[in-house]
Amino acid sequence: MPTPAQTLLLFGVTGDLSRRMLLPSLFGLDADGLLPPDLRIVGTARQEIDDAGLRETAETALAPIMADRKLDRAVLDRFLGRLRYVAADASKPESLAAIGEAVGPRADQGLAIFLSTAPSLFESTIAGLQAAGLTGPATRLALEKPLGHDLASSQEINDAVAAVFPERQTFRIDHYLGKETVQNLLALRFGNILFEPLWNATAIEHVQITISETVGLEGRVSYFDGMGSLRDMVQNHMLQLLALVAMEAPAQFTATAVRDEKVKVLRSLRPIDANTAARESVIGQYTAGAVAGQPVPGYLDELGSPSDTETFVALKAHVDNWRWQGVPFYMRTGKRLPVRRSEVVIQFKPVPHSMFAGRGAVLQPNRLVISIQPDENVSLTMMSKQPGLDRDGIRLREVPLNIGLPNAFADVRRRIAYERLLLDLIEGEPTLFVRRDEVEAQWEWIDAIRDGWEANSMVPKPYAAGTWGPAAAIALTERDGVSWHD
Ligand code: BG6
Repeated sequence: MPTPAQTLLLFGVTGDLSRRMLLPSLFGLDADGLLPPDLRIVGTARQEIDDAGLRETAETALAPIMADRKLDRAVLDRFLGRLRYVAADASKPESLAAIGEAVGPRADQGLAIFLSTAPSLFESTIAGLQAAGLTGPATRLALEKPLGHDLASSQEINDAVAAVFPERQTFRIDHYLGKETVQNLLALRFGNILFEPLWNATAIEHVQITISETVGLEGRVSYFDGMGSLRDMVQNHMLQLLALVAMEAPAQFTATAVRDEKVKVLRSLRPIDANTAARESVIGQYTAGAVAGQPVPGYLDELGSPSDTETFVALKAHVDNWRWQGVPFYMRTGKRLPVRRSEVVIQFKPVPHSMFAGRGAVLQPNRLVISIQPDENVSLTMMSKQPGLDRDGIRLREVPLNIGLPNAFADVRRRIAYERLLLDLIEGEPTLFVRRDEVEAQWEWIDAIRDGWEANSMVPKPYAAGTWGPAAAIALTERDGVSWHD
């Protein structure tokens, strides 16, 4: 096991991600006594504030957790005591020298760096880190998305990183991998004998992956409009989910074994390109409507200018290997949909012959629903006999076998995904981070789809906020006789 980092360097420490996720996660870990006792957290951003200024920002961000968990002031003070602030401008490598001075010789005792800056600043930041003496073998660099906007730009970033940090020191974040229920997919598949023999084209009819959001632009206008849902959500989170669902069993739960299996799946994705994009993908953009009974403006009104950016995408994907031949993977994600929900649905095939048919009973094929959020739930629908004397025929009904994870593990605190990822970064455990070959396989598939849209002059179809996307998304599955699991 690598030695835990003694210093964590957080870029963009005063930004939104840091205030909403990173500082609360670190505080949660600290409150539970999980951070290395001597860990120092050095925050940096452009603002000209000092240690006290950062501590103030942190205190405000952590107030809800203090209240929620009824924590002692001493716990907060211990955490605030770890914080230091250094003002630096990531676009000017020389301004990072001050960080080098603040970290000093601690850099050689293990340094973890969390970089969540705009991709345009990656190269200058890395140059600055190198000049400041912060890129030695004891440094681990975590990179937050977006890591480029297509394969070429992502390779450029990866090359710039690789020139200074070998792959084993590079930790690419996909925060979905930090979610407990996403990791539970592995436990479900490979910790039970029940599913794996049926987890293939023989028994599975199709798979659905949905990440639906009720939010709109959330003040991220300039970022999102340049990206769209395909690159913001499918390129990373949804393809990682697909890879975990579709991969072969890794021989060990190690970074290399797990990532080797995921990348094989990503490379087996059948391209959706100029020939198939119009049939196998649907894009949409929300117009004014209502979400949870509240009126909300359309995308273009929020943006204030014309745009062809998609806020919804639905795809019919295929994994071209033996296990998955002929099994469609339907994926959809969008903003301003009716509910917030992330889930994977495994739809099994019908039994080959129903002995109950002559007695009037109708069988529904089994379905496994893995709910990631907001509910953390695994539910398997099974046919069950409705109690009775069956004088006028046998009645069978679908009943769910339900594992509500919060109930099953009622005594365990639910953690933010970043708690897991930050602790793994600090301790040097790379399994839940994305390897370069995975990211590149993801981009390659995504780029072909975007080229396909362009070749077919596809532009997003409007859908009213608060609905499940354009009607064409429903047609995408219905023409195969499949309904989305709403
Ligand atoms: C981010 C996207 O990666 O994931 C956002 O950039 C999206 O647009 C978010 O809202 C969703 O994450 P979660 O954990 O809320 O499902």
